Amino acid sequence: MTDPAHDPSAATSEDPENQVDPVAVWRRAAPDAVLLDGFHALKHAVRFGAEVLVAVTADRAAALALADELAADVRDALAELLTEVSHATYASLVPRPHPTAVAALAVRPDRAGNLAKLAHAPRTAPVVVLDQPRNLGNAGAVVRLAAGFGATGVVTTGTLDPWHPTVVRGGAGLHFATAVERLTVDELPPGPLFALDPEGEDIRSLKLPDEALLAFGSERTGLSAELRARADHLVALPMRPQVSSYNLATSVAMTLYHWSATGGAPA
Ligand SMILES: C[S@@+](CC[C@H](N)C(=O)[O-])C[C@H]1O[C@@H](n2cnc3c(N)ncnc32)[C@H](O)[C@@H]1O
Repeated sequence: MTDPAHDPSAATSEDPENQVDPVAVWRRAAPDAVLLDGFHALKHAVRFGAEVLVAVTADRAAALALADELAADVRDALAELLTEVSHATYASLVPRPHPTAVAALAVRPDRAGNLAKLAHAPRTAPVVVLDQPRNLGNAGAVVRLAAGFGATGVVTTGTLDPWHPTVVRGGAGLHFATAVERLTVDELPPGPLFALDPEGEDIRSLKLPDEALLAFGSERTGLSAELRARADHLVALPMRPQVSSYNLATSVAMTLYHWSATGGAPA
């Protein structure tokens, strides 16, 4: 018999006769699954092909009204997935309730598949490398940027887990739109490495190639010695004297924008 924790259809039928307990499915799947916290995270994940195991809402009518308004393309899929539970039950499943009262669990994409995407040649868009980032919110914002610009992926070095629930929350479910993995500097995919550093060459004089790795240092200490040793180019963002540095995520935003404005970026 199919395990309902791994059979999305088992938990999502609108026919009460066919429903299994979504809470039981949730509790069994939660330890290994990715939490999609809120309507927008679920919407993005479904759009970009996530395998959703279970999805609950404390207000199904409100969630589907949001889908009608903002996500007609996935409205039917959401209607199929979402099971209404009491607000107390919903709140017991999530670290803190989201204003949309929607939450879901999805399968984390396979590491081998992500590594193949990151190494695939020729690359049509850069890979963003965050070298030992510390701030989970920054990492989430970077995943969202990478998804928006169609970057090939986001790689982190160091101890931060780029699939930590807070990072996924900051990424608004867009981890499913780009390849997100943690690697060591030695394991970085091939490609010319452009490391962002205020002491580098002015980005405005450069065109960043599609096959580039674009690397950014940690919030506290900047680029590690190991990453610098692997870098082919040091690149600076324009910044007036006396300002020390930009925020990590805004540095990624400016760099991806520069790549897109100078020839990159798929439609
Ligand atoms: C908050 S900054 C790091 C500041 C850190 N105190 C340091 O010593 O570098 C995080 C990262 O953003 C990028 N960054 C910030 N401002 C930059 C600039 N003006 N030019 C190039 N990269 C910059 C760099 O990759 C940097 O390592």
